[in-house]
Amino acid sequence: MIWHVKGIKELTETLAQRTRDDLESCIGPADSMRSLPPTCYTDDDFFRVELQSIFHTGWIGVGRSDRWPEVGDYSAMDLAGVPVVIVRGDDGNLHAYANSCSHRSAQVMLGEGKCARMRCRFHFWTYGLDGCLLAAPSMGRTGGFEKGEHGLTEFALAEVVGFTFLSFEASPPPIDMWLGDFATLHEAWPVEAMVTTRRREFTVDCNWKAFAEVFNEYYHIPYVHPTSIDETYDEPDEPEVVSGAFATHFGTTAGTGGLLDGTQEKVLPVIGQLEGRLRAGVRYSWLFPNTVVAFGSDAMWLYEIYPDGPNRCHCAQVVCFPQATIEHVDFSDRVSSYYERFDLALEEDIPMLEEQHAGLRSPVARQGMFSYLEPSVAAFARWYAGQLLGGEAPS
Ligand code: FES
Ligand SMILES: [Fe+2]
Repeated sequence: MIWHVKGIKELTETLAQRTRDDLESCIGPADSMRSLPPTCYTDDDFFRVELQSIFHTGWIGVGRSDRWPEVGDYSAMDLAGVPVVIVRGDDGNLHAYANSCSHRSAQVMLGEGKCARMRCRFHFWTYGLDGCLLAAPSMGRTGGFEKGEHGLTEFALAEVVGFTFLSFEASPPPIDMWLGDFATLHEAWPVEAMVTTRRREFTVDCNWKAFAEVFNEYYHIPYVHPTSIDETYDEPDEPEVVSGAFATHFGTTAGTGGLLDGTQEKVLPVIGQLEGRLRAGVRYSWLFPNTVVAFGSDAMWLYEIYPDGPNRCHCAQVVCFPQATIEHVDFSDRVSSYYERFDLALEEDIPMLEEQHAGLRSPVARQGMFSYLEPSVAAFARWYAGQLLGGEAPS
């Protein structure tokens, strides 16, 4: 896109030298690396830089493809400051368009639903599901007006194992290169075939990165979740060494990570194709920057995380099961215990995240160091700093 700016060199007007030095300390050996600077979580000027380098560069996640199962299913959304509409086209594929009318830029679509055409409410310019302008009332007398030149701007969209990714770049990196060995490392699970049974949205008064971080570290579990899920989770394995814009690590569980310590009797069947230790454990994966996913023995649960300025994020909790599990005779009874577990953990995490954010806003907040229980948070910090520094930092 035209606003695409890559690398910190071009950003010096808004990003102070001190922040650059602080970010460089996030790259390097584990025994000296620091957590991301508090500025990255709270500063309005920095947030604009982050939008450019993290959200308007490369690929961002927009959730599961089965959110839009049929032709015409659409959602209008704000993606990192850009109004976007995602719609399943007549060709059966998902498409993403700028949700700004080609006439005088009103948002064309609102909310979500099903449509045959996309019609702007202001002056009724009407677009097909392929983004082409089909009708523009009263424009016949406008010399030089060619309908073919006034379609909606289309963004790159990719579907990989049931996840949907969008890029604002005109020529984004190939998605397979971006994701590296993500699909291979998760091939034990039927990721593509998992079916969404619940999606709910909410907002949190914290930076989007902090929300993603807490989902990907075991360090806080005994302290923030002492009576809900702590007994279920064992210490995690060493993190995987991966290629691609993600981090992942697996850990075994006593029972399923999808249920509370006290409701393990509600367990649904183990995913049929899983073998060995994967039948009792969870792989936590963070698709950088904004999708975090837990691959359990029985379910997959994830959060889509979208920034709403530096001090707030809006999120969607998504829960998926294999079709065979959904057809289980006790599914509707037992699945409510899974939802209860995800909601309770969230209710325990959110006040902590908001307290963390209040601390991060202090002018004397400093960078910290990571424990061995936060490897994915460290991996993200390294990736994030690298994206902002545009490859200038020492490796
Ligand atoms: S702004 Fe959409 S038709 Fe005028
Ligand atoms: Fe938590």
